[in-house]
Amino acid sequence: MILILDFGSQYTHLIARRIRELGSYAEILPFNISVTKIIKLKPQGIILSGSPSSVYDKNAPFPKKRVFNLNIPILGICYGQQVIAKILGGKTKAKKLREFGRETITILDKSSLFKGCKNKETVWFSHGDTVTELPKRFKKIGSSKSSKIAAFENYDSRVFGIQFHPEVTHTVNGLKILKNFTYNICKEKESWKISDTKRRLISELKKQIGEEPVLIGVSGGIDSFVVATLIKNTIGNRLYCVFVDNGLLRKNEPEEVKNLFQKRGFRNFLMIDAKKQFLTALRGIVDPEKKREIIGHTFIRVFEKKAKELEKKQVKIKFLAQGTIYPDRIESAQPSKDATKIKSHHNITLPKKLKFQIIEPIKELYKDEVRELGRELGLPKPIIGRHPFPGPGLAIRILGEITDERLSILRETDDIFLSELRKNKLYDKIWQAFAVLLPLKTVGVMGDLRTYEYIISLRAVTSKDGMTADWAKIPPKVLEKISSRIINEVMEVNRVVYDISQKPPATIEYE
Ligand code: XMP
Repeated sequence: MILILDFGSQYTHLIARRIRELGSYAEILPFNISVTKIIKLKPQGIILSGSPSSVYDKNAPFPKKRVFNLNIPILGICYGQQVIAKILGGKTKAKKLREFGRETITILDKSSLFKGCKNKETVWFSHGDTVTELPKRFKKIGSSKSSKIAAFENYDSRVFGIQFHPEVTHTVNGLKILKNFTYNICKEKESWKISDTKRRLISELKKQIGEEPVLIGVSGGIDSFVVATLIKNTIGNRLYCVFVDNGLLRKNEPEEVKNLFQKRGFRNFLMIDAKKQFLTALRGIVDPEKKREIIGHTFIRVFEKKAKELEKKQVKIKFLAQGTIYPDRIESAQPSKDATKIKSHHNITLPKKLKFQIIEPIKELYKDEVRELGRELGLPKPIIGRHPFPGPGLAIRILGEITDERLSILRETDDIFLSELRKNKLYDKIWQAFAVLLPLKTVGVMGDLRTYEYIISLRAVTSKDGMTADWAKIPPKVLEKISSRIINEVMEVNRVVYDISQKPPATIEYE
């Protein structure tokens, strides 16, 4: 197992993700856990994550110094490298400007960390401070234009530090570097297989649920579908699936989801029409966080009402299952109080006095691991390949106020966009594609008439896990077809733009 000490970086979870992708188990724990706890966990290696802090900050997070005396290999990434320098007697310098972006590093010494890398490597930097003097008995193994000591090592004590982020896909050979650390330096063995995960999850669910019935909110997306299938395989017809039509779904989605669950033999599939309740609660709301909060709370109220109805029929619900996955928790809930909050995801902002016990069997998994688990469970291909769709649905793709008119415009345009991608065999090559309605009107001309209508932004990204993403290079001919279809078929739109921003710094969704 590789232990990752979290100093609060947005990328910490990605490190774990990559290590697991390499076939080894990785766990994230707060930077200041006790050395006794670390020894108990028996990690083969320790990674010190990045951080939004500077080692010069008054309350800068530092690990216990004894971590360096455990004879366990250590890799410090970005802030983690500066922590090593500071604790072991090197020097770091604060930079006025925070820089991030691609950079080239020159590898000065074929360290075991860089085995298989070229002399010059493209890497992703995101840093404020930089190491200026090596700690004693350390050797410089890489440098770049902005960081003279972009990488260092003490081979004898197996301590390494790199200024850049190998976990971000923009670092071309990042995975190789993490692999070198995990297998060559830490001598870790492959230990993370999805078939084992399936068995473990089912046996844990059996223990946790006992003879109780379970309620689950499903959306038709892979996460809740995998959870529903896991639970159905564990407790059979004691599972009650609730699908809420919140009025924020895409074209034909409610019917498609219903058919899917019926086809897969879910006996207790309950569809609730709550369109009015959601749309009334959202009337006049513009703030994205407020939208998420309202949607989250309305979901819970709808569930509670359904549970009460079931109770009247002698089915007393104790457990509520959710398809929360790892990035949902990390991107919104923060792994520790030291991570910077970006945005809340609806399934996290639950009211405090919730009467259900929550079951989240896939909360440790990343999206592609969930897909792998889905394949292991024998789920149909279209479900596995379905693009992620956020819980708050179209509400966070209509910037500003949500109205019936805007929802219907967005549904039509999104449907045109996705069906053209499918027709051109691009859908499966794209991580996520959708239309966004910008609440602005611009001038256009239709025939001889002046128009004054909405702008639609098309967003399509490629990604491995949704944590970093690049805009999809859809051929211009396909974009042209999509644009002309939207403008011709949807009267209320007279301008279509294509979003060419990367994540980071932009996010995938707009709100
Ligand atoms: P961002 O926009 O943060 O999105 O780059 C990363 C992934 O998360 C999805 N997403 C959400 N999913 N509730 C969800 O269930 C939400 O509130 C939410 N916000 C973003 C997004 O679609 C992408 O796949």
